[in-house]
Parts: sequence; structure tokens; C-alpha cells
Amino acid sequence: MSGPSSSELIRRHFELFAPAVAHLPLYHRLAEMAADDADVTGLLLVAQPGQARPVLLLAAVHELVLRRPDLPLAQWYASVTPPAELATGDPYPAFRQLCLDHADELRAVIATHGTQTNEVNRCVLLAPLVAAATADVPDRPVALVELGCSAGLLLGLDRYRIEVGDAVVGDPASPVQLAGRVVDGAAPPLAPFPPAPPVVDRVGLDLAPVALDDVDRVRWLEACLWPDQPHRVERFRAAVELLRPEPPRVVQGDFVELLPDVVRGLPDHAHVVVFHCWALTYVARDRRPDLAAAIAATGAGGRTVSWLSAEAPRVVPSIEAPDLPAGIEETQPETVLGLRRWRDGHELEPLAAGWGHPHGEWLTWLS
Ligand SMILES: C[S@@+](CC[C@H](N)C(=O)[O-])C[C@H]1O[C@@H](n2cnc3c(N)ncnc32)[C@H](O)[C@@H]1O
Repeated sequence: MSGPSSSELIRRHFELFAPAVAHLPLYHRLAEMAADDADVTGLLLVAQPGQARPVLLLAAVHELVLRRPDLPLAQWYASVTPPAELATGDPYPAFRQLCLDHADELRAVIATHGTQTNEVNRCVLLAPLVAAATADVPDRPVALVELGCSAGLLLGLDRYRIEVGDAVVGDPASPVQLAGRVVDGAAPPLAPFPPAPPVVDRVGLDLAPVALDDVDRVRWLEACLWPDQPHRVERFRAAVELLRPEPPRVVQGDFVELLPDVVRGLPDHAHVVVFHCWALTYVARDRRPDLAAAIAATGAGGRTVSWLSAEAPRVVPSIEAPDLPAGIEETQPETVLGLRRWRDGHELEPLAAGWGHPHGEWLTWLS
């Protein structure tokens, strides 16, 4: 008995995606209508294995709109059209027409790309983790190592204004303004940074790092954001602008393999703060213990090491998913905030420190 055809699977992906974005009028309407439009969904048949998802087609179209804001569909995209000028009618006819008129161009992008993001608002989740990690070693300079850093925007966390509930950390005058609510539980720990502890080195690792001066790759990251969420696009653009003149050092490769070498190259006296957000989730389950072993070996060797994570539940070894606090319903795969620390050759008790929204819109801190 044969399973559903590729076309049928793609169609079903659109059917499932539409209700998942019911709160986003543009993408909801496009997904809902495309589900019954084989001319449009068929563009995804050229995608690489595992990539034939609605978000890839929507990103390819968004990329075209970002490059060609003169196209009629652009009137519905808040990423290129000011709010007062946004069209209000049904976007689907213009979307369909664009797909038909630019089918070859879209297929070329779909065949060669996968979706990739760099969500700078995740600094809201990182700020309390950094504060918790540095609380017992406030004077020791920090070397930041981000695993799965994409364009490395999270490595600039001390250069952004980060509002966590009522508190502000980072640079209050920064053009990059990030914010998240504290919804329940204890007040998260927050330490003002900069100036303390000083960051003496920072490096990111990624399989497919994006250089901030690579206009095409940066536009693709932007296209993978959703135009219905213009605040995300704004923050992304502001962070790229801010970091571009002095981009963080980024190393290309598999972070499970590369981490030990990278750590060896960091200043000897520095507190090694390894962190990752929604990156280990994409690494095969049976490889995750290798990463844990590499970090533990560094800590056992006597270095001051902290391992901060914001990942899906049950992804980070030794970080159990805590119960969701009362009043929070899990509406999407939420993010578990984890902290593991090694001091003087020994590991302290691992902490599942809280939960967060995948894009840092809210967090809850368990004392
Ligand atoms: C969903 S993105 C998140 C990017 C960034 N951490 C953020 O929160 O905005 C995941 C990133 O992890 C990278 N990645 C996944 N597996 C990796 C691996 N084994 N080694 C290096 N990078 C990896 C991908 O290339 C991608 O850029």
C-alpha cells in the first residue's frame, strides 16, 4: 500500500499550518487558501528532503517581496509597507499571481534554501541566565560561546536594551530594544551588564553562519521572519545594523565537534559561558550527550564554566522540564531555560530555571 504522495503531504502541511497561525491574518489567509491550490503548493516539490513546508514557500515569497517592494503583493506586507498604507482586502489573488508569474525564480530559491532564523529577542531569556551564571563569580571576565549562532546576533546581548518585566539591563540607549513579560513565579535575577562582568571574548559556531555584510544571506534570514510580526523584523534589522561594523567572530562547523577546540582558544582566566537557543533541539538525540561530555570535561579540568540553554523540553542532558506554572497553557513548543555550572572542577546542581516563550515574549522564573 503506498502512502500519500508528496503533493498530498504538502497540501496537508498547509492545512495544519493555517490554524497554527490563526492569530496572524496574512499568513493565515495565505496558508488556508494555498492548501487547495496545487499550482502554488506544487512549487515546494523541488525542496530539499524534509524542507517542503509552508514556511519555506512563504519565506521564498517574502524574500521576493523584500527585493521587489514594487510588486502588488507587497502592499499586504508590513515588512515593506508602512502601517497606514497596508492593503486591507484579500491578499490571496496577488499572492497566487506572484507565485505564477515568478514560479521559476521561486523554485530556484526553494530548491537551494532551508529556513533559518536569528531571533534577537531571545536575549530576554538569556539575560537572567547570564545573571544567575555570574552571580557567584561577579569579578571574573566572561568569554561567551554561542552554539548554533546563525548570524551571531545573540552574541551582542550586552549592546541591546533588554527589558525583562519592569527591569532594564544592557545598554539603555541602544537602538535595539528588546522586551519580554515576566508572567509568573519568582522575579528573575538580573545583573546590570555592561560593565560587570566584562566580556573579554565572544565567538559563535554554526553549520551555516551568516556574515552580517552578506546582503543576500541577511535578507534570507529576514525573509524567514513573518511579515505579520513587524516588531520582529524591526528588531532584526536594528541588531544587524548595530553589529555589522564589528561583527562577532563566527566559526563555521558542527558545534558538537568544534566546541573543545574553540574553548581551548579562549583566555585562560575567563569564565566560559556556553549558551544556545533553539539550536541543540536540531541536533540528533544520540549526539547530545557528546556535547554534554565535552562541556563537563572542560569544567572538570578546573575552568569556571557555565552552560546556559533555551531549548525545547527534554533536549538538554540533565535539564528536566519543570512543571508549567499555573495559568500558562502550552500553546506551542515552549522553551525550557537551563543552567549547568562547574566550579573548581565540580559541577553544581543543574537548574531548570524556568520557561520562556520561544521568541522571548514572556518568561517565568522558578526560584
Ligand atoms: C533555529 S536557528 C537559531 C539561531 C539562534 N540560536 C537564535 O536563537 O536566533 C538554529 C541554528 O543552529 C544551527 N545548527 C543546527 N545544528 C547545528 C550543529 N550541529 N552545529 C552548528 N550549528 C548548528 C543552524 O544552522 C541554525 O543557524
